[in-house]
Amino acid sequence: MSVESPYAWHRRLFEGRAAVFAITATLVAAIGGIAEIAPMYSATLGPKPMEGITPYTPLELAGRDIYVREGCYNCHSQWVRPFRDEVKRYGEWSRAGEYAYDRPFQLGSRRIGPDLMRVGVRLPSVAWHYEHLMDPRKVVPQSIMPRYPWLAEDRLDPEDVRASVATMKKLGVPYSDEDVAKVPEQIAEQGGAIANSLKESGIEVAPDSEMVAMIAYLTRLGVEGHQALAAREGDK
Ligand code: HEC
Repeated sequence: MSVESPYAWHRRLFEGRAAVFAITATLVAAIGGIAEIAPMYSATLGPKPMEGITPYTPLELAGRDIYVREGCYNCHSQWVRPFRDEVKRYGEWSRAGEYAYDRPFQLGSRRIGPDLMRVGVRLPSVAWHYEHLMDPRKVVPQSIMPRYPWLAEDRLDPEDVRASVATMKKLGVPYSDEDVAKVPEQIAEQGGAIANSLKESGIEVAPDSEMVAMIAYLTRLGVEGHQALAAREGDK
């Protein structure tokens, strides 16, 4: 007596018919594809900006581009996890809405150096950052962080920075046309203020140097989030 295999239906429907099998397999795989791709067309993708978080100024954005170019994220994360030890060391744990204008985000995956999410709160001194970037071992003798002295020599190209700001605007960061138009003025103004405070510590560096942009970026990291969270009740 012959017993039909419990999988005979499968053999009859698919295995014997290459075309039906191929079409069915494609349709089934497409469901998974649609589930992943369709949400990307939604305008609300990504975290909503947290209240109190403003977009980077052009100078800060330029500093951020240099941060990415130099690969600082290879050694530094920007993500304080909600654990007691992290909060004690680095400050308030990170909220999604703080990253709303970060494209691409700089969460990082390695901590060879400390987390930098709130470094602007911990280390607000522009002179400290200058000395540290020129030669980390001058301020932290055991440091293994590389030196970045060329940042003090290299100048920003305002047109590059303008292109960065315009791209962020296209991606939905709320810059106005005026913000894009006034990039060189903004660099001169904020860069001038930072160069002036450096001068008070006896440091001469051009207001449009990459160093000043990097310092503008580092000293603002996490500050707005810190202030917004300090003003909040209950969400601790
Ligand atoms: C090879 C790994 C490495 C790279 C790359 C690196 N760092 Fe560091 N960084 C460290 C280490 C280790 C420390 C801790 C010792 C010290 O303060 O120098 C540190 C400390 C820091 C601090 C002080 C943080 C604190 O809370 O004390 C800042 C700011 C910083 N790095 C910024 C940068 C920037 C900006 C870049 C890219 C231009 C960069 N780092 C690249 C390893 C690195």
